[in-house]
Amino acid sequence: MLAERISRELGNTPFAIPFLKRFPDGELYLRVGGRLEGEDVVLVQSTRTDESLLELLLLEDAAREAGCRRLFVVIPYFGYARQDRPFFPGEPVSSRVLARHVELAADAVVTVDLHSPLTTAAFSKPLFEATGIPAIARLLRERSVDLLVSPDRGGTERVKRMAQLLNLPWLALEKKRIDSEHVELSLPHELPFALDGKNVVIVDDVISTGGTIVEAARLLSRQKVATVAAACTHGLFLRDAFERIKAVANYLYSTDTLDNPAEKVSVAPDIAQILRDQCMRI
Ligand code: R5P
Repeated sequence: MLAERISRELGNTPFAIPFLKRFPDGELYLRVGGRLEGEDVVLVQSTRTDESLLELLLLEDAAREAGCRRLFVVIPYFGYARQDRPFFPGEPVSSRVLARHVELAADAVVTVDLHSPLTTAAFSKPLFEATGIPAIARLLRERSVDLLVSPDRGGTERVKRMAQLLNLPWLALEKKRIDSEHVELSLPHELPFALDGKNVVIVDDVISTGGTIVEAARLLSRQKVATVAAACTHGLFLRDAFERIKAVANYLYSTDTLDNPAEKVSVAPDIAQILRDQCMRI
């Protein structure tokens, strides 16, 4: 569990799991054990589901009620981050709504590889962003990789950062989303190099239904690349996404921001470093 790994990285800081139950009417009840008065408290909770968001908000209030000194909220996977603008009239900016609410009781928020900088701007409290990119890059150093590919232009900064660490070329595909499960991908108009025979890794921030990675792998295979693999920070792997990707990719790496079957590396050291070096100085 990531929270436990962060506590170990912080020199075995006491670690507690809150007690949770549902009232008969379905409302959530929780209680945090231990003495929090005057302590710096770190809450670790992804906003992966609506339920986990509510848990986080209640936990923040519980920590404040218990008289904690400072409250640092770690959101390894920041759910709703992909709705970072209205794509159609009448839509909310969901990521901004979450940012405003999760920061209310916090002194600082720490998250990992946010989908886009638009969400960063929505915070008024200090926000620190950890990253899984160097950790994944270390794993890829053990492999034979010739080229990194982002499945869309939105991931350009991410793939560039990984490419710099590994001293590799990169490219970003063109993506058109058809619906929440289907995408159309194409190669950029001018390719600066040939793809055939290359060992390619597709790098994304989130893998959800797996539609993007599967389509990208198919497109690259049609270009006669030697191998295709995939790596992401946040592995949601909904339904059979993991199996579908494994069928088209040589290997699949993810961090532990979410428990998932491709989890190969932890972001705990990076988060602990931010807590120690930046949050504690607030
Ligand atoms: C979108 O812009 C993200 O970076 C991911 O590419 C996307 O969320 C992946 O979703 P899926 O796995 O459902 O295709």
